[in-house]
Amino acid sequence: MANCNTFTAIILFLTLATVGKTQPVPPQRQPILLQRIPTPTGTVGPETIKFDRSGAGPYTGVSDGRIVRWNSTQNRWINFAVTTPNRTGCEGPFDHTLTESRCGRPLGLSFNQKTRELYMADAYFGLLKVGPNGGVARQLASAAQGKRFGFTNAVVVDQNTGIVYFTDSSARFPRPLFPLIIATRDDTGRLLKFDPKTNAVTVLANKLMFPNGVALTRNGEFLLVAETTNNRILKYRLKSSGPGNPVGRIGVFAKLPGQPDNINRNKDGGFWVALISSVVPNYTGLGLAARLDRNGKVVEILRDQFGTRFKAASDVLENRGSLWVGSSTEPAVVRLAA
Ligand SMILES: *[C@@H]1O[C@H](CO)[C@@H](O)[C@H](O)[C@H]1NC(C)=O
Ligand SMILES: *[C@@H]1O[C@H](CO)[C@@H](O)[C@H](O)[C@H]1NC(C)=O
Ligand SMILES: *[C@@H]1O[C@H](CO)[C@@H](O)[C@H](O)[C@H]1NC(C)=O
Repeated sequence: MANCNTFTAIILFLTLATVGKTQPVPPQRQPILLQRIPTPTGTVGPETIKFDRSGAGPYTGVSDGRIVRWNSTQNRWINFAVTTPNRTGCEGPFDHTLTESRCGRPLGLSFNQKTRELYMADAYFGLLKVGPNGGVARQLASAAQGKRFGFTNAVVVDQNTGIVYFTDSSARFPRPLFPLIIATRDDTGRLLKFDPKTNAVTVLANKLMFPNGVALTRNGEFLLVAETTNNRILKYRLKSSGPGNPVGRIGVFAKLPGQPDNINRNKDGGFWVALISSVVPNYTGLGLAARLDRNGKVVEILRDQFGTRFKAASDVLENRGSLWVGSSTEPAVVRLAA
């Protein structure tokens, strides 16, 4: 009898272990569309979504180089900032990939909640910032270690220290050629740091394969960086926890069922990661995102055409019970039930 129970227990254990291994696809959820806000006339690609300290927003950067803020009372976008003063020929209903190197393409946005300044990563103009009233942003950095940034992409401000972390996705390929970064396994991406007290720019990591979104863990112990080409999130240690774990050590935080774009921390310390493509069976090419717990485990997949044929999610941000979703190609921002 005892032997039989042991045998049964072993079989049960083996079965569960096998199920665990052959079930790489986590629970999936069909989101509920609450609102769809078209981007300003003639523009597409609200790549990143942010709200300011007072809860106003969303703010987003669009294809013609403007950073706009949604005013829900007036039900319209208000111009907030630009990354270059000369806007001649920048706006209008045409393909902005032809003008973006001159007009700017602000991708990453992150507020310093204390100073209310908005930091931005523009694909062509590097790291910039603007005050709480907006206007023309001031450039803070366009090169590091003598090498110009090729494709500045994402930024996050550490709210405790004011330090700014950002990514340069490739030294070789500009933004519109991003598929080539993946196809050629380009490894010229860099993870960078800007210290507003000294204006110093530091290279934290070299040889990354399409470093994209950045986020900080709640305790500030790690800086997370999405490595798009490798379907994973890396963690860069910011605080030492003993001799075996020095500052600057890099490890894998999460393996993902697709190529990650931006990453945002949630209230509970977990993260939403937008996936620009996916290897989840049958869902290739549709808007998709993964929710991670605070340890990097994928706990949920959000997949949908959002009822509006919304493709290529680039950012998912939880805000007051809603999920705000941006896209690098769609002409709208959508709000989903959280
Ligand atoms: C939105 O517009 C209203 C009416 O003009 C104004 O009172 C309010 O301050 C604006 N809010 C934001 C966030 O811009
Ligand atoms: C602004 O850009 C336009 C278009 O490239 C150019 O013709 C013009 O000279 C620029 N103006 C200034 C003041 O730089
Ligand atoms: C994918 O689609 C094929 C064809 O429609 C279907 O046979 C298969 O079961 C689907 N796989 C999954 C995981 O849904």
